[in-house]
Amino acid sequence: MGGRVTAPFEPGERVLLIDQRDRRYLVKTLVTGQVWHSHGGAIEHDAIIGRSEGTRVRTAGGMVFTCFRPTLADFVLKMPRGAQVVYPKDLGALLVWADIYPGARVLEAGTGSGAVTIALCRAVGAEGRVVSYELRQDFHRTAVGNVEAFFGKLPAQLDLRNADVGAIAATGERYDRVVLDLPEPWPLLGPIDGVLDPGGLVCAYVPTTVQMQEIVLSMRSAGYEQVETFEVLHRSWHVTARSVRPDHRMIAHTGFITIGRKAAEATIPDEPPAAPPT
Ligand SMILES: C[S@@+](CC[C@H](N)C(=O)[O-])C[C@H]1O[C@@H](n2cnc3c(N)ncnc32)[C@H](O)[C@@H]1O
Repeated sequence: MGGRVTAPFEPGERVLLIDQRDRRYLVKTLVTGQVWHSHGGAIEHDAIIGRSEGTRVRTAGGMVFTCFRPTLADFVLKMPRGAQVVYPKDLGALLVWADIYPGARVLEAGTGSGAVTIALCRAVGAEGRVVSYELRQDFHRTAVGNVEAFFGKLPAQLDLRNADVGAIAATGERYDRVVLDLPEPWPLLGPIDGVLDPGGLVCAYVPTTVQMQEIVLSMRSAGYEQVETFEVLHRSWHVTARSVRPDHRMIAHTGFITIGRKAAEATIPDEPPAAPPT
């Protein structure tokens, strides 16, 4: 997934089918000879395989579906979930404010369902590295499946570990960025300090104000600088020829993104000696 949009659909790929009312359906795997059944009738996978993105297919009942490769946002909303995922509206902000760049060495915990992991792998690219810890074996397995499904195979830059991220201190590894999406990130600031280079960023994602206050205060007392917290409000709009207004429903709250930057040990030179009186 994530290849050229001009490449024709191949067996083994996922495909997003969108009906005329903008309802979206994910076909998990295209298989030669198989049939996908919808409320509007059946579609043969062979009608999609070998065709380009944007292809329109019609069921015997006359219903038309447009075929696209799922975007990261489509995939995250449709993929199997163990733990609660970070929603696309927050993923984009998280990548920018945690300053995830191509080639970055990123530590993540917990992997959960793998939504952040997928976004991180894309952002660091083949030159980067993502190490992601997940405590629970069932969630770890779900994440492995989701990441494999998204990329076609586990990306070489990714290391998924089924372990407590607290173990990171003993590894001797070095990181540029740390992304934490787990209920209690503050006790981890100690272990992380041993692996995060000065200038590195920690980004914590927590759902409640109580957790947010705790991580902000903990980051400040651990000496982090530029500590800031925000949430992302995403309001979609209904636009037709007759009316333009915000949609009635929105996802009102998901989580708070808190960022902090690690300073180096003090390197300010001592005050120069006063010049002798002339
Ligand atoms: C909210 S989920 C993460 C969801 C993930 N960001 C996603 O978008 O799919 C939090 C996860 O952190 C894991 N977790 C909690 N404490 C942990 C720890 N100390 N080390 C590793 N994983 C931990 C939990 O098992 C859970 O799966």
